[in-house]
Amino acid sequence: METASISHLVKYEDLNHHGTLFAGRMSEWMVEACFICAATAVKKPEDVVCVQVHGMSFIKPARRGDIIRVEAQLAYLGQKSLTVYGQVFANQAVEPYVTSFATFVTIDQQGRPYAHGLTLTPEYIQQNQDIHQKAKALRK
Ligand SMILES: CC(C)(COP(=O)(O)OP(=O)(O)OC[C@H]1O[C@@H](n2cnc3c(N)ncnc32)[C@H](O)[C@@H]1OP(=O)(O)O)[C@@H](O)C(=O)NCCC(=O)NCCS
Repeated sequence: METASISHLVKYEDLNHHGTLFAGRMSEWMVEACFICAATAVKKPEDVVCVQVHGMSFIKPARRGDIIRVEAQLAYLGQKSLTVYGQVFANQAVEPYVTSFATFVTIDQQGRPYAHGLTLTPEYIQQNQDIHQKAKALRK
């Protein structure tokens, strides 16, 4: 099943005025990882656009010198949409520092949504029931 993982070193220019990782920078990295996950599943990155970032939650602050890893995985597949769940981990932490869902739509060259034809296996849904149900509840 499609997943994506990207890592970043938190540098001075990524910080806010509190000296912790700026939410705007974190959001960019989160959406990037979720996009890569969705685009890899669709296999046509040029057809994938983001329509919503749902409830990004900042649980713990990351700091300069932290190596953060954004892990993204498919959570729910609609007919023309894909909802991805992202989690951010810092260094060796087991609990996420940031979590979010992001929804993408497949569009053709004219910008019209089309059915991507992808499905999640029953086994995958069973193993990921929690995020699957949460993503389902977020649907438009
Ligand atoms: C993508 C876009 C063409 C979709 O248009 P639309 O008229 O809403 O499309 P539809 O009503 O046919 O919906 C298509 C699918 O997207 C989902 N969807 C559309 N807007 C959504 C939103 N804001 N949040 C969550 N899902 C959404 C629908 O639920 C539907 O899902 P399904 O097929 O799995 O049931 C239009 O919203 C758009 O161009 N948005 C701008 C995208 C963009 O520029 N992204 C970059 C962000 S900077």
